[in-house]
Amino acid sequence: MEGRWKYVVLGALAAGFLAAAGGLAFLYSGIYPIAANEPHTKVVDWVLTTLQEHSVSSRAGDVSAPDLTERELLADGLALYNRHCAVCHGAPGVERAIMGRGLNPDPPRLATEIRDWSNAELFWIVANGLKMAGMPAFQPGLSDREVWATVAFMRALPGISPEEYRRASVGGDARILALLEERMRGATPRGAADGDPTEGRRLVEAYGCGSCHIIPGVANSKGHVGPPLTKLGLRHYIAGAVLNNPENLARWLHSPEAVEPGTAMPSVGATREEAVHMAAYLLTLGADESLVGPRGILPARWLPH
Ligand code: HEC
Ligand code: HEC
Repeated sequence: MEGRWKYVVLGALAAGFLAAAGGLAFLYSGIYPIAANEPHTKVVDWVLTTLQEHSVSSRAGDVSAPDLTERELLADGLALYNRHCAVCHGAPGVERAIMGRGLNPDPPRLATEIRDWSNAELFWIVANGLKMAGMPAFQPGLSDREVWATVAFMRALPGISPEEYRRASVGGDARILALLEERMRGATPRGAADGDPTEGRRLVEAYGCGSCHIIPGVANSKGHVGPPLTKLGLRHYIAGAVLNNPENLARWLHSPEAVEPGTAMPSVGATREEAVHMAAYLLTLGADESLVGPRGILPARWLPH
C-alpha cells in the first residue's frame, strides 16, 4: 500500500512538472500571436467574456443607483461621455478615433452593441475597468456621481440621433436634454419588446413597404428595390450597419438615415411608436423559438455563429 502511494505522488509531481515546463516552453517559444490587430482565438474570446460576465456580476451587487433620469446628471453624462468615452466607443454620428479602432477586443459601439448589464454592473465596469480588455478604470479619476452620470447617459444613448448628439454635445441644447429625460422616464416605448406584431403587420402594409421589399405575410409585397425581409428575425445585422435587435430595428424604421447616413432606404414618416410595432412584426419573420429571449431576439453577438 505504502509503495503504491509513493508512485501516485511521484507520478502527480512528474505530471505537474511537465505541465509547468510545457507552459514555460510555450511562453518562451514566441508562438502566441500577441499583435492587437489579429483577432483573439474563439477560446480566448470565450474565456475573456465568461470571466468578465461572472466577475462583474459577483462584484457589482451592492451599489445603489441614484435617479438616473435627473436632467443635470444626463447633461454631465453627455459631457463626460464626449470627453472620455467617444474616442474608443464612438457616439451617434461619431466614428471611433484611430486608437479606439485599433484595440483588441474591439470596444463596442455603446449606442448599439452593449451587453445586457444592470445599472450597478455598468457603474462597476466604468469605475473599475476591465483587465485584459483595454477598458480603463475611471476611478479614482471620476467621482461616484460622475460615473453615475456616464451610466445615465449610456442608458439614453440608443435613442439619440447623430444630429441630436452633435447639437447636444456642442451646446448642451436644453430641448435635447428634455428629450433625453423624457426617454429615460419611459414616456416613449423603446423597443419592439413593447410593440404589437399584429398592429405592426397592418402598418407595414399601410406604409407600402411592399413596394420595395418582399415581406412574408404582407399583401402586394413584391418590390426588389430593397432586400427581401424574409427571415429578418434571424438576421444579425440591419443594412449591414448595426446589430439586429428590437431597439435598433425600431430606430431604423423610424429614421434609416439616423442609423446609416446615406442609405438608399427612405424614411416613410413613421412615428417612433409605429416603428416599434413594425419592428415587433418583422422580428417574428423566420424567428426560431430557441433564439427568442425575454426581450425579443437576442443580440447577434450571443447567437451561435
Ligand atoms: C481606451 C479605450 C476605452 C475608453 C477610453 C473607454 N473604453 Fe469602455 N471599453 C473598452 C474596451 C476595449 C472594452 C471591452 C470590450 C470587450 O471585452 O468586449 C470596453 C468595454 C466597456 C463596457 C462593457 C460593454 C459591454 O458590452 O460589455 C462599458 C459599459 C464601457 N466600456 C463603458 C465605457 C465608458 C462609459 C467610458 C468612458 C467613461 C469608456 N468605456 C471608455 C475601451 C475603452
Ligand atoms: C423606396 C424603397 C423602400 C421603401 C418604401 C422601404 N424600404 Fe426598406 N430598404 C430599402 C433599401 C434600398 C434598403 C437597403 C438599405 C441599405 O442597405 O442601406 C432597405 C433596407 C431595409 C431593411 C434592412 C434589411 C436588411 O437586409 O438589412 C429593413 C428591415 C427595411 N428596409 C424595412 C422596411 C420597412 C418595414 C419599410 C416600410 C415602413 C420599408 N423598408 C420601406 C428600400 C425601401
